[in-house]
Amino acid sequence: MSGPPPGPRGYPLLGVFPRARKDPLAFFLDAARTHGDIVGLPLGVRRLYLLSHPDHVKYVLQEDAGRFEKSVAAQRIKPLFGASLTTVDGEDWRRRRHLMQPAFTPQRMAALVPLIVETTAAMLDRWRQSAETARPFDVFDEMTELTRAIIIRVLFGEVPDAEARTVGRAISVVAERVNRGLWSPLGWLPWLPTPGQGRYERAVGALDTFMSRRIGERHDARPDGELLSALLAARDHASGEGFDATELRDELKALFVAGHSTSASGLAWVWYLLSQNSGARSRLRREARTVLGARRPTAQDLVDLDYTRMVIEEALRLYPPTWITARTTTAAVDIDGYRIPANATVLRSPFVTHRDPRFWEDAERFAPERFRHGHAARPRYAYFPFGGGPRACIGSAFALIEMQVVVAMVAQRYEVTLAPGWRVEPEPGTVLAPRRGVRIVLRLGGTEV
Ligand code: HEM
Repeated sequence: MSGPPPGPRGYPLLGVFPRARKDPLAFFLDAARTHGDIVGLPLGVRRLYLLSHPDHVKYVLQEDAGRFEKSVAAQRIKPLFGASLTTVDGEDWRRRRHLMQPAFTPQRMAALVPLIVETTAAMLDRWRQSAETARPFDVFDEMTELTRAIIIRVLFGEVPDAEARTVGRAISVVAERVNRGLWSPLGWLPWLPTPGQGRYERAVGALDTFMSRRIGERHDARPDGELLSALLAARDHASGEGFDATELRDELKALFVAGHSTSASGLAWVWYLLSQNSGARSRLRREARTVLGARRPTAQDLVDLDYTRMVIEEALRLYPPTWITARTTTAAVDIDGYRIPANATVLRSPFVTHRDPRFWEDAERFAPERFRHGHAARPRYAYFPFGGGPRACIGSAFALIEMQVVVAMVAQRYEVTLAPGWRVEPEPGTVLAPRRGVRIVLRLGGTEV
C-alpha cells in the first residue's frame, strides 16, 4: 500500500512557497537531502513532488513518459514559448517533433560550424581593445549577444543589426516578465494586469511581427537561414502537410528563445568556473593551441577538442541552465512505495541530482576530468542537463557544438579572469543565469586567428 512521500511542512495557504522563493536552489537541495529521493512539497491547495534519484528521473522522462504531461506545468512559460514543441502534448507534440527532427540531424548541425566560427571571430576582434586596456566587462552580456546573433543567423539568415537588436530587447522584456511570474504567488493565477503590462504586450507584438515578417518575406533576395528553410520544407509523410503559418511563427519564437538563453548562461558559467581554476584554464589553452594552432576551428576538430568538451560538461553539471523542469501526472502513479496523485506537479532538478554525493565524488568541486571516460560510470540520469526520453532537448547537439567552438576560440586568444572583487551568484529563473552577470578582465593570451 503506497502512502504520501515525506516533506517539509509549510505555512497555512502558501505552504512552502515563501521559503522556496527566497532561495530556490538551497531550498530544493535541502529538501532532497533532508527528506530523500521523493519529497512532497505543499503549495497552497496543490502539492508538488520533487524526484531526485536517477531511477525516478528515468521513470518520468523515459520509462513511463506517457503518464507525465507538460500541460499545466507549461502554462508559466507560454508567453515565451507560445504553443510550440516545448509546451504542447500528445498527438500535437508527436506531429511537431516529427516535422522538426530532420532539421536537427548531426550532419546539419556540423554544417553550421562555419557560421558559428565567423560570428565568434567578429566578437573576439571587438574584444581586443578590452584586452589591451584590461577594461572589465560583463561576459554574460557578451555571450547573450553572441548566441543571439548566432541563432538569428541559423534561423533566419542575415537580419539587419537594428532589427536584431529590437528583437533581442523584446525577448528580454518578455523573459523578465516570465521570470518574475515564476516566483510570484500571483504567478500561479492567470496573468493579472500589472504595471508594465503595456510594455510586455508591445514586446510580444514585436516578436510576433518579426517572426511573421521573416516567414512572409522569404521570397525576397535574401536566402533564409538553414533552420527556417528546413522547417518550411518539412512535411508529414502520411498527410503531406507541414506547419501552418501560426504554428511556424510560434515554433520559431520558441527556438529563438530556447536556442540562445540556455547556451548563453552555460557559457557564462564556463567563464566563471574557469576564472576560478587556473589549472583548467592552462590545460584548455594548451589544447586549443595544440589542436588548432593559429587557425580557425572546423567541424572535424571538435572530436580532438576533448578537454574543451569536458569543461563544458562539467559547467553544465554544476550550473545546468535548465535547472528544473516540471510535468503534470495524467493519473496517480506509485514510485518506490510512494503515491503521487493524478494532476500533481512533478519536478526534477538536474541542479539537485548533479550534486548528489552518491553519484558524484566531491560533488561541489569543478573537476572536468570526471568526464574523461564519458558517462558510463554512473546511472544514465545522474546527469541530464538536456533532459531525456522522447522530450529530450532537440537542440542539444547544436548547443554542444556551439559551446565547444566558442570556448576553444576564446581560449585560443585570450585568458579570462574575474574582475577584482566581483562576486557571482546564481539566479534561478526560467534559466539558471548569473545574477548581475560575470564581470571579467581579459588578457591577450594566445594567437590571432
Ligand atoms: C545549453 C543549452 C541547452 C540546454 C541546457 C537545454 C535544455 C533543455 C532541456 C532540459 C529540455 C527538456 C525540458 C523538459 O524535459 O521539460 C529541452 C527541451 C527543448 N530544447 Fe533545449 N537546451 C539547450 C539548447 C537548446 C537549443 C540550442 C535549442 C534549439 C535550437 C533547444 C530547443 C529545445 C526544444 C525545442 C525543446 C523541447 C523539446 C520537446 O519537448 O520535444 N534547446 N532543452
